[in-house]
Amino acid sequence: MDIRLWKEMARAVERARIHFMFWADGIAVRHSAKDDDELSFNPRIDVFEPLTVIGALAAVTERLGFVASASTTYNEPYHVARKFASLDYVSEGRVGWNVVTSWSEQEAFNFGLDAHVEHGKRYRRAEEFVDVVFGLWDSWEDDAFIRDKQNGRYFDPAKLHTLNHKGEILKVKGPLNVARPIQGYPVIAQAGSSGPGQDLGARIADLIYAQHKTKDQATAFYRSVKEHGAKAGRDPDSMLVMPGILPVLGRTKAEAEDKFAQMQDMVHPRVGLPMLAEVFGDLSGHDLDGPLPPPLSGSNSVKSAYDKLVELGRQPGMTIRKLYQTQAGASGHCVFVGTASEAANLMQDWFESRGCDGWNLIPPFMPGPAMECLEWLVPELQRRGLAQTEYEGDGTLRGSLGLPRPTFHSRGAHARENGTFIGKPRS
Ligand SMILES: Cc1cc2nc3c(=O)[nH]c(=O)nc-3n(C[C@H](O)[C@H](O)[C@H](O)COP(=O)(O)O)c2cc1C
Repeated sequence: MDIRLWKEMARAVERARIHFMFWADGIAVRHSAKDDDELSFNPRIDVFEPLTVIGALAAVTERLGFVASASTTYNEPYHVARKFASLDYVSEGRVGWNVVTSWSEQEAFNFGLDAHVEHGKRYRRAEEFVDVVFGLWDSWEDDAFIRDKQNGRYFDPAKLHTLNHKGEILKVKGPLNVARPIQGYPVIAQAGSSGPGQDLGARIADLIYAQHKTKDQATAFYRSVKEHGAKAGRDPDSMLVMPGILPVLGRTKAEAEDKFAQMQDMVHPRVGLPMLAEVFGDLSGHDLDGPLPPPLSGSNSVKSAYDKLVELGRQPGMTIRKLYQTQAGASGHCVFVGTASEAANLMQDWFESRGCDGWNLIPPFMPGPAMECLEWLVPELQRRGLAQTEYEGDGTLRGSLGLPRPTFHSRGAHARENGTFIGKPRS
């Protein structure tokens, strides 16, 4: 909660010519601790609301983009459309929305519910929600505001499109009280890996987040995303797949391994065990260096993460301690321990094998290892021609990612009716 640190980080990230910073979010203190005592060991409690902090960071940067999560389950589409449209102007076209359906039960408790909304229902609302948001962003054609001083007319009424949405779940009249965003639509990111999650991403997303431990998982997911996109009428090359990597870097491999061992040792069991509770129940009475018990049945939060944890728990030699240490580090993401050059080898290999189009860098903590990523790893990728040395495009996030500005009515329900999608080939 120190804005000065984040301002310094944003400036450093911009100097490294990274495309954007990403802010995850949940609208609650999200945890699986069984009581306040256990909760008091959790370091992820008090965080900035992403759109507010992005407003501050946009003001101290020129080209860096910012992507923030906003939930379709515990928000109203008018709020989301308005805030991102406004922030697109505040940042001069540098924001993106990561469409999430929320995974935590605690969010439901803050919005008048006694249980988290069921997975399928969340995605049905999300599908309708994003169409409403696109519709609200298309309330005004790009040149609607003529501000004709001579005749006193502020906008051209022929270019106002009031949404009048009455769907299965949502009813929103519109129009939005913000002009069409600078980018047409802010960049859309999505991270769902389940069937409905991939369907939604295929239809609407410019960026697809992913989490994989191995190159084989990454290439299989990449193929699946691109196939889903093609089926949804998209140009598959216009959907950029970004798995996460948590690099633990050292000047030598041995130094990196030492750092990693130190970090793993610091994972407190009172933080680690709750991370396994949703899948395996309360493990506090078990031998931490013994095997995992059988998993509980089903999950209503993150289905793909549940399945991956069950699979990891079944690996030979896996113990409760090893599993929570894995989770605490990077959950399902790829953890790399070694030198910057070795990390670059892995990143290059996944990219060239079509396991990704880019990477989501996840520093193990801030700010030290984040600076190592920027000062050691990024220059190595730049030397190989794999990372940009200057921002490209028209100054917007879309421009810097090589994504064209979407024309009026090219996404959402309107596009679904007309089958109009625009994309850009991979280069
Ligand atoms: C990189 C990444 C970032 C995510 N950020 C958020 C977030 O900020 N808020 C949230 O509720 N879920 C977040 N998720 C979870 C996803 O939105 C989604 O619920 C999850 O991937 C499971 O999708 P599925 O239910 O379709 O399997 C994130 C997932 C990934 C991989």
